[in-house]
Amino acid sequence: MKVLVTGGAGYIGSHTVVELQQAGHEVVVVDNLSNSSPVCLQRIEQITGKRVPFYKGDVRDTELLDRIFSEHNIDWVIHFAGLKAVGESVAKPLEYYDNNIGGTLKLLEAMKAHNCKKIVFSSSATVYGDPERLPIDESCKTGGTTNPYGTSKYFQEMILNDVYKADSEWTVVLLRYFNPVGAHESGLIGEDPSGIPNNLTPFIAKVAIGQLPEIGVFGDDYDTPDGTGVRDYIHVVDLAKGHLVAIDKLTRSGVYTYNLGTGAGYSVLQVIHAFEKACGHKLPYSIKPRRAGDIAMCYASCDKAKRELGWEAKLGIDEMCASLWNWQTKNPRGYNS
Ligand code: NAD
Ligand code: WQD
Repeated sequence: MKVLVTGGAGYIGSHTVVELQQAGHEVVVVDNLSNSSPVCLQRIEQITGKRVPFYKGDVRDTELLDRIFSEHNIDWVIHFAGLKAVGESVAKPLEYYDNNIGGTLKLLEAMKAHNCKKIVFSSSATVYGDPERLPIDESCKTGGTTNPYGTSKYFQEMILNDVYKADSEWTVVLLRYFNPVGAHESGLIGEDPSGIPNNLTPFIAKVAIGQLPEIGVFGDDYDTPDGTGVRDYIHVVDLAKGHLVAIDKLTRSGVYTYNLGTGAGYSVLQVIHAFEKACGHKLPYSIKPRRAGDIAMCYASCDKAKRELGWEAKLGIDEMCASLWNWQTKNPRGYNS
């Protein structure tokens, strides 16, 4: 199949492009490189031995999208492009709504105009807000989001649902990712945050390699086994494979929603200790106040994806940490190393 990957130079997008190409799909990437590097695309080509047709530009650019859909007979769109930093979204809500919701609207308009009606959308566990029960399954209440980033994801899900209601020829797949971590086994592609990382595992990796002095653990007084926050970390390669299974298996129109996680929760301290095993030395950390907006625990039930798609995560926390460490040591300054 021919797949347009928006945001394909980004962290999850690049790993998905690799899996798509290795499975024999034809891929076209559009990315404005606002949070990624063109080096990533060269690295993908190095891994797969295949060229990555690339359009540098914004998904809000109608003319560009028209050109892409005219030049390629696209079967599926996998839509990763968007802004994703929770804290930044609180400071810049209009930018986030414009980029994320505006981008999705323009993309859907172009798809409709070119009669391409199959889309996989990168949603997030954040749409569950403070979850009503654990493990979180797909029927748990959504909404109740606490920041513009999360709200933009929730709105985009609503928009995609409405598109299907208006035209039942669409296939809409909403994949709600839990906490993606790790890197491709080659160490050629991985997560490359600009500046000081907001997320736990890239922060740990930078402490481990000596670029940051110590890890701040945001709260040790949560109602969790060791008092620190618990999350469902999923290896980015498992996550990428989830997209492949979705486009292979979902041949009938409809709206399909799946959690992609492992179903297991790990605390901040457990992740730090797993990373110590991967890098072979102790990591300095200290307990800091809770971070605003954080919840105590978040982990998925992934039974639906297993039952309906035959997909389940295969890689555990040790593989996640080892692959991240491999990427970090081979690329100490990311793609600019
Ligand atoms: P990323 O920032 O690495 O990748 C996003 C890519 O989209 C970047 O390459 C960026 O340059 C590009 N982009 C952004 N706005 C664009 C636009 N308007 N037009 C064209 N390109 C644009 O992020 P990621 O971690 O790979 O996340 C991919 C998707 O998955 C995002 O939609 C994100 O919200 C979602 N998601 C991520 C996580 C996570 O923790 N990483 C969790 C849940 C959901
Ligand atoms: C994990 C745990 C922190 C950093 C975010 C988004 C979510 C989704 C995934 C996109 C928490 C603790 C963190 C640090 C710490 N993204 N922590 N010290 O917040 O679960 O999810 O990324 O959709 O929407 O909110 O991920 O990696 O930031 O935090 O103690 O320096 O690590 O408190 O318990 P989070 P995270």
